[in-house]
Amino acid sequence: MKESKARQILVTAALPYANGSIHIGHLVEYIQTDIWVRFQKMRGNDCIYCCADDTHGTPIMIRARSEGIKPEQLIERMHEEHRSDFDAFDVAFDSYYSTHSDENRQFSELIYSRLKDGGHIDSRDVEQAYCEHDEMFLPDRFIRGTCPKCGVEDQYGDSCESCHATYNTVDLKDARCSVCGNSPVRRSSRHFFFKLADFTEQLKEWIGGGHVHEQIQNKLMEWFEQGLRDWDISRDAPYFGFLIPGETDKYFYVWLDAPIGYIASTKNYCNQTGRNFEDYWCNPDCEIYHFIGKDITYFHALFWPAMLMGSNFNTPKRIFIHGFLTVNGKKMSKSRGTFVNAATYLKHLDPQYLRYYYACKLGSGPEDIDLSLEDFVNRVNSDLVGKLANLASRSVPMLVKKFNGGMGQLSDEARELLGPLQQAADEVAFDYESCNYASAVRRITGLADQVNRYVDQRKPWSAIKEDTGHALETITATVNAVRLLTIYLKPVLPGFAAKIEAILQIEPLHWKDSEKMLENCVVSPFERLIERVDPKKVEAMIEESKEDQQQEQGEPAKASPLDAEPIAEQINFDDFMKVDLRVAQVTKAELVEGADKLLRLELDLGGESRTVLAGIRQAYEPEELIGKKMVMAANLAPRKMKFGVSEGMILAAGPGGKDVFALTVDDGAEPGSRVH
Ligand code: MSP
Ligand code: ZN
Repeated sequence: MKESKARQILVTAALPYANGSIHIGHLVEYIQTDIWVRFQKMRGNDCIYCCADDTHGTPIMIRARSEGIKPEQLIERMHEEHRSDFDAFDVAFDSYYSTHSDENRQFSELIYSRLKDGGHIDSRDVEQAYCEHDEMFLPDRFIRGTCPKCGVEDQYGDSCESCHATYNTVDLKDARCSVCGNSPVRRSSRHFFFKLADFTEQLKEWIGGGHVHEQIQNKLMEWFEQGLRDWDISRDAPYFGFLIPGETDKYFYVWLDAPIGYIASTKNYCNQTGRNFEDYWCNPDCEIYHFIGKDITYFHALFWPAMLMGSNFNTPKRIFIHGFLTVNGKKMSKSRGTFVNAATYLKHLDPQYLRYYYACKLGSGPEDIDLSLEDFVNRVNSDLVGKLANLASRSVPMLVKKFNGGMGQLSDEARELLGPLQQAADEVAFDYESCNYASAVRRITGLADQVNRYVDQRKPWSAIKEDTGHALETITATVNAVRLLTIYLKPVLPGFAAKIEAILQIEPLHWKDSEKMLENCVVSPFERLIERVDPKKVEAMIEESKEDQQQEQGEPAKASPLDAEPIAEQINFDDFMKVDLRVAQVTKAELVEGADKLLRLELDLGGESRTVLAGIRQAYEPEELIGKKMVMAANLAPRKMKFGVSEGMILAAGPGGKDVFALTVDDGAEPGSRVH
């Protein structure tokens, strides 16, 4: 696959929601996309990677409310967190922006007005569940009740997790608002709709045109059978989003402005770099690629192309759709500790392992990919460390020590070894281009096997004693093999490649550098490229991910006092005295959205105020705690939990659940005073 002209390419990955942390499931996508972009850049193509935080919608509004901050503050904090997680995993965006930006507002209004002018927007009244207490319309996910089909309690407003029935919210029995617990009422309001059916023929043609994987194409075609339905693109106030032009209390539904965020992020890139925006979204020669997970196919393969068609922007050349991550063959789970946040992973393991492992597993189709922790350790240790990094450690140190780092020339035999390595460039490139990274990695490790066999046969470590020329020949060939394989691995392991480039004292490697060889050059001393994975660290990461969960939910409720925990290990008096126990008065107590075992307490420590997340929700109503004086461990290091930072602990005892009793003290005790 030779390429003569540089292609202009715009690549996006789906915009992560701003109300949650990046986890290893998300990373499948951002790493997959990053590898593809790095490959394109190495090919000399003009390729950029744009993404952003998806900041609008009800969940973000509610979460900010429950933290007592503005949505703007929440999304800013999450933006920083997301950026630093991506950085750590070498996910290198050319623009990482936000859907809550002026650019996104402008493009949303522009696209909406073009659709409206084209006659593609309708409006009519809709009846919906409304919470009179919270004064808001409730999305399906914010209503809980009993499934009308199977009678299982505590199900969402649209579908049952137990029997998988889908239903109308009105049919849900005993419906409750999941924010405040009151029963919602029915209320009608005017909504705006995008007439998707106007684009039926154009969409059919587009989907048939090879823009998505065949498997997905067939699935999409089924949707046309029932006819495309209008899409509700408006939401009533209160809502965190963009007001619909000409309205005072109606907002664009988050899924309208979210994909437009791809355009806004491109615009941001152009503003930062002086590039021309029209070259991307208004130039049919620009190739636009979206990488997404299969769960959001409907939005990207139907609504989004129709929006672009109706507003005169480029449609994507291809949508690459990946499957979901499972861990050890099962769905990621908080209780099993396999729901691992990016930040938790980073505390224990090298991000390069995950990039390498995902590359080993990723094909071009929408199949789920499994992270088997045992296989993860084995593959990284045997292939990445044992085969690929090993070739460098078998050659460079000896070259430095015995030959002052000076390489020799390539013999005919060496060229015979290296020929197939060079010739693999096109096949490996084809694998990357088609997102078949598993195949690329298989080829690369296969080539590394050949080179390792060559080294084994020629035994430079013993040859060096009699025939230094023979040894130098072997080492020179091996160093060239390392360089070639590094070119092919570089999209996956940019950090590894940078170390090799430094050792070889060469410019950053590009794909076409596989046509060249190194002879008579000097290399720098060896530095370790990558450590073996320690399985204990994998275990520790899983353990910590379990702990996160316990902290967030409080201790699991005990069935009976007979299940009471055994007395813990003895500590000495000095250990006990390290705990600074103080009287603390509750000034505020509230529920924590999404955590059914926690209360958020504001405590007065005699002038100083602390926020504590306490696992006593099942035992106390927030109101009854206000004004109470309790005992708290005041010098406990703050702990970051899913729902915020907890700055201490209050003392409470009991088997768990409803039967937990917080220690309260006499009214006379001054807040802040020591407990004796
Ligand atoms: N905000 C929307 C996307 C808007 S795009 C205009 C969204 N956000 S998300 O945070 O839930 O997911 C972001 C991407 O990560 C999606 O493509 C989603 O499929 C992917 N993944 C989230 N969890 C995943 C796994 N467990 N496994 C693989 N991919 C996953 O959807
Ligand atoms: Zn409510």
